Amino acid sequence: MQLNLNGKRAFVTGASRGIGAAIARALIEAGAEVIAGYRERSDVPFGTAFHCDHKAPELPEGPLDIIVNNAGIWLPTPVAGDDWEDNFAAVIDINLLAVAKLCRAFALRARPGSCIVNISSRASHRGEAHYAAYAASKAGINALTKSLATELGPRGIRVNAIAPGWVRTDMTRAHLDQNPLPEPLPLGRVAEPEDVAGPALFLCSDLSQYVTGVVLDVCGGAYLH
Ligand SMILES: NC(=O)c1ccc[n+]([C@@H]2O[C@H](COP(=O)([O-])OP(=O)(O)OC[C@H]3O[C@@H](n4cnc5c(N)ncnc54)[C@H](OP(=O)(O)O)[C@@H]3O)[C@@H](O)[C@H]2O)c1
Repeated sequence: MQLNLNGKRAFVTGASRGIGAAIARALIEAGAEVIAGYRERSDVPFGTAFHCDHKAPELPEGPLDIIVNNAGIWLPTPVAGDDWEDNFAAVIDINLLAVAKLCRAFALRARPGSCIVNISSRASHRGEAHYAAYAASKAGINALTKSLATELGPRGIRVNAIAPGWVRTDMTRAHLDQNPLPEPLPLGRVAEPEDVAGPALFLCSDLSQYVTGVVLDVCGGAYLH
């Protein structure tokens, strides 16, 4: 049994930067052909660029063995905020509904041995003040992951998720610049995108061939349950 993705074709959404770019790189280094989804930034650092806006999500053509649903937004939705309803709906549409559509499209054509990895968040477990829509969307991702794992398992398709804690990317940079250690972190630092790419690679490979329906915490021990 090897960590070898030779001959596998993978689609990673939101791969223009941040966690998605790191996952695309890890999959390529393991031998996969990677199609890198982007919304605006077509200059993807790894893989072949493919436009996929979650407002109208579509899969690339041709066979796919792996999909990593990584693209997402972190938009505040405080209860007293302006445009609460529009913003809440936008977060659910982009972070949950679009992922569900991509999972469905993938599953309709997936072969045995294929797998789905969805990027959730620690917020899915414990909630997040001022980000209720985000936390709810990621809790939905966890339930989607577990539901599809049981539905698609008999067809030989595995479905897992990763719940990162703080990761230094464009999404969090401003916050982390002001709060380099935003909470007690047993491993003493926030994550870099590569810290999430390793577990994603594991879940995409045969090393995890008997793992499905799991939401894997990648938070440096900051949240234990
Ligand atoms: N950073 C963290 O601390 C953290 C923690 C927990 C979970 N996560 C999750 O990890 C995932 C990646 O986060 P990140 O920190 O790497 O974010 P990021 O640096 O902000 O990158 C976001 C990526 O998603 C794409 N994207 C944004 N809106 C999109 C849309 N409407 N349609 C398609 N693609 C879209 C962006 O594409 P363009 O470049 O083309 O705009 C970009 O590739 C997200 O699901 C996020 O919720 C992040």
